[in-house]
Amino acid sequence: VSLAGLNTFGLQAQAYAYLPVQGADTLHALRQDAALMALPRLVLGGGSNLLLTQDFPGLVLHMQGRGMTITGEDEDFIYVCAAAGENWHGFVQWTLAQGLGGLENLSLIPGSVGAAPIQNIGAYGIEVKDRFHSLRAFDLATGEILTLDRDACRFGYRDSVFKHALRDRAVVLEVSFALPKRWQANANYADVAQALQERGVTEPGPGDIAEAVIAIRTRKLPDPAQIGNAGSFFKNPIVPARLRDTLLAQYADLVSYRVDEGHYKLAAGWLIDRSGWKGKTVGRAGVYEKQALVLVNRGGATGAEVARLAKAIQEDVKEKFGVQLEPEPVFI
Ligand code: EPU
Repeated sequence: VSLAGLNTFGLQAQAYAYLPVQGADTLHALRQDAALMALPRLVLGGGSNLLLTQDFPGLVLHMQGRGMTITGEDEDFIYVCAAAGENWHGFVQWTLAQGLGGLENLSLIPGSVGAAPIQNIGAYGIEVKDRFHSLRAFDLATGEILTLDRDACRFGYRDSVFKHALRDRAVVLEVSFALPKRWQANANYADVAQALQERGVTEPGPGDIAEAVIAIRTRKLPDPAQIGNAGSFFKNPIVPARLRDTLLAQYADLVSYRVDEGHYKLAAGWLIDRSGWKGKTVGRAGVYEKQALVLVNRGGATGAEVARLAKAIQEDVKEKFGVQLEPEPVFI
């Protein structure tokens, strides 16, 4: 089965086997098939966080369940639930159309609802974990349905239990969110504040923030339908305060954010930009002109070419700044 249309980088690769998954029934049936269960597995949503460097000699589970509902409310929250196969941005738009705020900062992030908690997607001051209530997942090891609350998901920066203990085991079926009844704008992120100001909005509602975020993302990030990419290719590295202080003494315009007492997060985009890589092309892979954190397919690139470019960038940044960059997408 060709995966070409199923990854936003637009890379060519074949999977040995492919199974569209509507819900738990498909996965129960899969457990009865010893030959399929013996294969390596890849759970695929929107394919927006994936680098296919070669064919995949295993089984692709393509999540296709649909459905979005308001499930209840209490004094503080309205609860909404969406199936894993729903498109993330479509879901955010749906909540806004229901008059529910809370997810607007996460507008226009490519990918699916089921993938959102796996890497705890985040943008413009909000992460999925901030609005997350619980999720249901199918445990391929036991055949049970797991219900995980926020603590059980062990969310971190672009991280969760699904990248560790439950990796290759739990398949997310649906995700519930708690949207605040007393909504407050989260417009502190500099880009967002500026976009609102340009629009002359002083008291933004959820729709205003969604519009601002959509405008920023459209300006800075390539549309995967036009230019293949997987969003930020590297995580923003967290470094010891001592290293950050040394770098700041050398580079006054270093971009860093305090994480805790002893650690700072650096802007990987800045590090790559300052290493001279912005806008560069190597073979058919490149570094996006408007945001150095995004690697792009300039047309017909192979995953191996993108991986080679990524490695060259990592080596350069390491040499220049002493910082190790870690890729965000899953490598196959
Ligand atoms: N910068 C540069 N040159 C560049 C790119 C960035 O100097 O080429 C500087 C910017 O001037 C800014 C700083 O780096 O001062 C941060 O840039 P930006 O606000 O664009 O955000 P980011 O740190 O590069 C992160 C997320 C994005 C998310 C934005 C907004 C990660 C890995 N990336 O990017 O998430 O949309 O913040 O919150 O955390 C994604 O994960 O795929 C993604 C797009």
